[in-house]
Amino acid sequence: MNKIDSIDLKNKNVVIRLDFNVPMDGKKITDNSKIVKTIPTLNYLLNNDCRICILSHLGRVKSEEDKSSNTLRYVAKELANLLNHPVKFVNACYGEKVRDIVNKSKAKDVLLLENTRFMDYPEKLESTNNLELAKYWASLGDVYINDAFASMHRAHASTAGIAKYLPHAVGFLVDNEITNLTPLVKDTPHPFTVFMGGAKVDDKLKLIKSLLPKCDYLLLGGGIANSFLKAKGAKIGDSLATNDEDILKELNNLSAKYKEKIVLPVDFTMDNGIIYDVGLKTIDLYQKYFNDSKIIFINGTCGKFEDERFTEGTKELLKALKNCGQDVYVGGGDTAAAIKKFGYQDSFKFVSSGGGATLEFIADGSLEALKWME
Ligand code: 3PG
Repeated sequence: MNKIDSIDLKNKNVVIRLDFNVPMDGKKITDNSKIVKTIPTLNYLLNNDCRICILSHLGRVKSEEDKSSNTLRYVAKELANLLNHPVKFVNACYGEKVRDIVNKSKAKDVLLLENTRFMDYPEKLESTNNLELAKYWASLGDVYINDAFASMHRAHASTAGIAKYLPHAVGFLVDNEITNLTPLVKDTPHPFTVFMGGAKVDDKLKLIKSLLPKCDYLLLGGGIANSFLKAKGAKIGDSLATNDEDILKELNNLSAKYKEKIVLPVDFTMDNGIIYDVGLKTIDLYQKYFNDSKIIFINGTCGKFEDERFTEGTKELLKALKNCGQDVYVGGGDTAAAIKKFGYQDSFKFVSSGGGATLEFIADGSLEALKWME
């Protein structure tokens, strides 16, 4: 894996993949942290008199309507403000017109192409790592930089295939993430405790299975905890949980196999029989595990913390983590948003810009897109 400062970039035409998949409320970006973290790499390219053509995704595109709600137009404005440099938004990401605009640009011009996932509808090309599409994007420059850490668990045309056609390197953000997350992958001190929360167990099952042999304790919250409870036969009504019978069976098997490691909530905050948060007895229990750990990784939250009625579990969990005095590593969009909301930005060892990417890196020691950068 080359690093950005190990290759000659002077006056080069650079195609760079960034992760501008930021939370939006209409036209408003509600958290610009992911954009802020790309500024050092972009400034480095500007200082090297590069022409910069940026690729990024935003959300998922499965219909024409998704295209209007997932445009990167407003990100271009925010980026120009943060970079203190003009950013030209190109309202397509593919075709001869796009090529023309890019080719007519000069050194120090910054262009942001429209959402790469527009190439997922009507035909899925970006997400299937279509190599013709990758080759087209590669044709827009003479060097490829990948600084989209949060997207690197996806082998897509813009994150993976493109590296096949151009000299390439990772940017400062990716390098920084990998350096900081390495203690969770190599020579990890023990006890190593993982807290996992959030909604989707289906997405995370593979990672849970890779993590269980590596960690000493896996504490659970949110929909993931509910799914484990449901798998064990608990009556949880309409609480958020998987309905997939095969997954439930697997969770039940994991609960039996790792019964000393998997720790489930013992009390809840409910409304109309539905679980929305964990209770304070659970946090007391989790605090004991945190106090006895040498290193901790958290991904996800305890419940629906965006709703003021259900903030307590997540808030108290963060307090317990801060108070335990151990090295705490945080992964994930939702978790980072909770940390910001409750004022814990400076309380932990490292807050990653990635969610799924961080989990995959910790579970497998590598990332799908990184394998294309070797
Ligand atoms: C993220 O926010 O986790 C990344 O941008 C990846 O987004 P995705 O899950 O839509 O691929």
